[in-house]
Amino acid sequence: MLELIKKVDNECGTPFYFVYPERFVNNLQSFRKAFTDIYPNFILSYSFKTNYTSVLLQKAKEISCFAETVSSMEYNLAVQKGFATDKIIFNGPIKSFEDIKTALINKSIVQLDSEYEITHVLKLQKENPGQEIKIGLRINMEVGSGSIALQGGLRQSRFGFTTSMLEKVIPLLKEANIKIISLHGHTSSSDRIVDNYRHIANRLMEIRAKFDLNDIRYINVGGGFFGAAPEGIDVSKKPKYTDYAKGICETLLADKWFSERKPYIVIEPGASVVSNVFELVTKIHQHKNIQGQDFVFADASYFQVRPFLTKMNLPFTEYSDNPEQPEIITDVVGATCMEVDKIAEGVSLKHYSHGDYLLFRAVGAYRQNLSPLFIIPWSPVVEVTSSGHINILKNRQDASDLLNMLEK
Ligand SMILES: Cc1ncc(COP(=O)(O)O)c(C=O)c1O
Repeated sequence: MLELIKKVDNECGTPFYFVYPERFVNNLQSFRKAFTDIYPNFILSYSFKTNYTSVLLQKAKEISCFAETVSSMEYNLAVQKGFATDKIIFNGPIKSFEDIKTALINKSIVQLDSEYEITHVLKLQKENPGQEIKIGLRINMEVGSGSIALQGGLRQSRFGFTTSMLEKVIPLLKEANIKIISLHGHTSSSDRIVDNYRHIANRLMEIRAKFDLNDIRYINVGGGFFGAAPEGIDVSKKPKYTDYAKGICETLLADKWFSERKPYIVIEPGASVVSNVFELVTKIHQHKNIQGQDFVFADASYFQVRPFLTKMNLPFTEYSDNPEQPEIITDVVGATCMEVDKIAEGVSLKHYSHGDYLLFRAVGAYRQNLSPLFIIPWSPVVEVTSSGHINILKNRQDASDLLNMLEK
């Protein structure tokens, strides 16, 4: 590995990403198989926001995944990457009248999140009285009672319609002859356990029954799964793709209406299919001991590894030609000018000379999209082919790229 790292460093410098598109395909295929082994009507929709790397979007399309998008920018990205528009799911809290109109004309699955979107759809229906309009609704899980531990310790999710909101809007939709074809229940939890999905599935089926929604073709439980863990993360007690599939299918198939009508089960995985698809290589430039505290300076930034500065360090490996040094317990700090730029905190290092490398795993989900253009540019993305060749998929940006984005 060290030789390979040095080779890429020679070609495009550090920091850089290794990408493994085949791992992404394997993750998606395994997730799909886990469901279709139990229930055939299944749609796998890749959550675009997790990582926009072009080759991943291409691969997802090639293996007939749907695109899960949450803004008009993402929607247009899916269109431009060649996803058939009836294979695009349009979620997200903010959509304009024009966004909704375009997506509905294109026969995409549009999941409405708030009442103002109902107003948009009713207006669209008035303008096109002969047209059949079909929409989806995101359902709020009303987790206040403690049924699902929300991400970040939050007490309430802000997304989707509560039961009392549905009591108001569903009659309006029915009266206007707008068909409700999808119920969506994505809820990001902190523990990602299978029981959360049983809860989501049950709630969606309760809503279906309560409002007598007989046009439903899609039961969408969203993303938020565990999976794609790289080596160095203990997964022995974590659910597997097959555990989620069993829990969700069992719960839904226990519902009489579901087992008779056989709608599609839809999932929208992001992190659980992309975490292990990228590794980040960063180079050490300096070790300092300041009043007893060690700092090892590397050329990446915390945005690329720990954007939310959570306690957990990502697994990493040291690569070096140099002999081992005395072990230090140190912070690895990044290339920005911020004191909080800590790529890792309190980790043990035995190689921290100028030119040594650290390779961080599990950096595939969110971190690239969340890395701002701040002091250092976006890093190159490099694929290593099965024959060991280096294929640079994305170059490091330079000042001209930056100016192109900053000027009209
Ligand atoms: C609507 C929706 N679907 C899918 C996802 C993907 O979640 P994850 O990356 O945790 O699988 C998200 C993430 O926030 C989301 O908001």
